[in-house]
Amino acid sequence: MMALTPRPGIMSIAPYVGGESSLPGQNRIIKLASNESPLGPSPRAVEAYKALASELHRYPDGGAVALRAALGRHHALEPSRIVCGAGSDELIGLLVRAYAGPGDEVLYSRHGFLMYPIAAQSVGATPVTAPERDLTADVDALLARVTPRTRILFLANPNNPTGSYLPSAEVKRLRDRLAPDVLLVLDAAYAEYVTRADYDAGAGMVESHDNVVMVRTFSKIYGLAALRIGWAYCPPAIADVLNRVRGPFNTGAAAQAAAVAALEDRAHTEKARAHNDRWLPWFSKQVEALGLIPHPSLCNFVLVQFPEATGGADKALAFLNGRGVIPRRMAGYGLPDCLRFTIGTAEEMEATVAALREFTGRRPETGGSR
Ligand SMILES: Cc1ncc(COP(=O)(O)O)c(C=O)c1O
Repeated sequence: MMALTPRPGIMSIAPYVGGESSLPGQNRIIKLASNESPLGPSPRAVEAYKALASELHRYPDGGAVALRAALGRHHALEPSRIVCGAGSDELIGLLVRAYAGPGDEVLYSRHGFLMYPIAAQSVGATPVTAPERDLTADVDALLARVTPRTRILFLANPNNPTGSYLPSAEVKRLRDRLAPDVLLVLDAAYAEYVTRADYDAGAGMVESHDNVVMVRTFSKIYGLAALRIGWAYCPPAIADVLNRVRGPFNTGAAAQAAAVAALEDRAHTEKARAHNDRWLPWFSKQVEALGLIPHPSLCNFVLVQFPEATGGADKALAFLNGRGVIPRRMAGYGLPDCLRFTIGTAEEMEATVAALREFTGRRPETGGSR
């Protein structure tokens, strides 16, 4: 009898490993491994979630009509072009399933988000990477790797795990030189944290081009990672395709309701952004003073390089874990000498810097930590 075998490519997938959330023998944990919001969700989102407790026997609105309308109002977008998904992960997977297959290539930047190659391999397509410059996507290198087989180009902007970004002029240059039969996916999971004038998440580009999609998430600044809710802004033909391939009830009722409430609580989002604006530069400055190398970041995390002289990233990780601190190991992203730290609460960041100071053996800076 023939053994059951999955489709070609599936067994070469290195399964995505999420951030750790516990450590053996430690009861006080500082979890900085998954880019979650230290402020948590808006209390209004929690109320909306709880209000659905008596309705769990009902199917959700499969078209997420209220959420798409709320997103349309909030971002001045056309709701019919929006498709919601169980996190942006689902939408990334659906786009790959719809537009790539065996023999096709899915292109992304060397240190781009790991779900892109996983999604590509899951449909038998070949993931292709382009080298970066200073841990930043390089438009010319990406364009040089486009072949007649390239079906999708994923650009996380800003990118996880590097935190770097491409200004809108560079994204436009990339799009202008891309063949119309290659889909450009702008993954703007961290867009809400970015306040730079030369950054654009890409909605306008979606409206003016048939081959550009923007994907967004409620997992980061909105603090709703547990509910799995994201969305894509698409040209009408691509929204139509996604609506054909997605499950009819792919996003839950509580997730939709919480997302609407989260959007409406602008003060909470602003608080989360202000917290990040304060603690990200503080943390970067502190780690730099310890002889470590923080990479400039526009997101809610910092990629920190550990030079050889410090003992390296793996040694630092073991030390930090011993102090209850959990950053993310970066070897899977081709950055074995780095750890990625999410910006946590004030107390968490101070405790993390104290642990790093102990690790590096440096004396405290004078002049107060804040
Ligand atoms: C760049 C990027 N895209 C997409 C995602 C997926 O987010 P979610 O599936 O929670 O919406 C993440 C999460 O870490 C991310 O960093």
